[in-house]
Amino acid sequence: MKLKKGVILAIASFTALSFSIQAAEVVNNATEIWKDTDGNPINAHGGGMMYDNGTYYWYGEYKGEYTYRSPGVGWECYRTMSGGVSCYSSKDLENWKFEGVVMQTDTNTKSDIHPTMVIERPKVLFNEKTGKYVMWMHIDSPNYGKASAGVAISDSPTGPFKFIESIHPNGHISRDITFYKDDDGKAYIFCSSEGNATLHIVELTDDYLKPSGVYTRNFPDKFREAPAVFKRDGKYYIISSGCTGWDPNEAEYAVADCITGPYTAYPNPCRGKDANKTFYCQSAFAFQVQGTNQYVIAFDRWNKRNLIDSRYVWLPINFEGAEITVPWQDRLQFSAE
Ligand code: GAL
Repeated sequence: MKLKKGVILAIASFTALSFSIQAAEVVNNATEIWKDTDGNPINAHGGGMMYDNGTYYWYGEYKGEYTYRSPGVGWECYRTMSGGVSCYSSKDLENWKFEGVVMQTDTNTKSDIHPTMVIERPKVLFNEKTGKYVMWMHIDSPNYGKASAGVAISDSPTGPFKFIESIHPNGHISRDITFYKDDDGKAYIFCSSEGNATLHIVELTDDYLKPSGVYTRNFPDKFREAPAVFKRDGKYYIISSGCTGWDPNEAEYAVADCITGPYTAYPNPCRGKDANKTFYCQSAFAFQVQGTNQYVIAFDRWNKRNLIDSRYVWLPINFEGAEITVPWQDRLQFSAE
């Protein structure tokens, strides 16, 4: 059948319209691979988000191609070689430009950031006082025995970040970690400590490079991991996972009036199919869409036997008073205002 010119134009403009509508969404369907502006899969797992000067920066674990099991470890310790920390930038949260590996690994076999080491959950913040960008991350040995928090520094959000050291904050071990700056400029690391049983909230020195010595112990013996922290209307929220390695479990959250607690724990905020397994995901970071009231929780959907192929799922955080829900959505639409 021959189509008239007007019909062809109508089909063409309809296609353009549906394309522009879809372009305003983030596709959450796990069968879809999120790509950067060069068309390559985004490789920024267990990540963190920083907003700086009109740009969002997404940092993450730059996973190596091959997944193997760490030799001599009893539990399912799936690993890839560490490729350092990657960074992607975006103005609109949809189109992500690869800024490169902003913290490179070190070929020195004794280094904490040798490719055989664990470099996980990197987060970056800007320090107004020093004018430096500071990164905190989980540093570990191949069998996760070292359990340390690592810190690196840069003059620019896109690196290069210079690794400084890894430590046991206040003499305690540290695994899953996040890094959060409060409105008054003070910053904290939240880390799973005491054999992952208790979450420590560790105040940092003014330059963000060391623990100040002040910390609180939260959720003792509750084994909370993967903390994602945000603040809304003067309340602090932590969304976290249980402690089952790469396998999914039930999320929980907690709310406090003060960043260092005490936190009141609430059950799983997830709603919808597979909510009891956090949609087969684990929390990575939470953020507010700038200039809007929209809050988003970013998850990893780990593929433990092929870790580089793990996917990203971003969902809205809805509020009812101070309580939250995280409903499943195939697609997340960002608010314009
Ligand atoms: C999880 C943790 C991940 C990774 C994994 C290794 O509990 O949240 O970041 O460390 O264990 O099995």
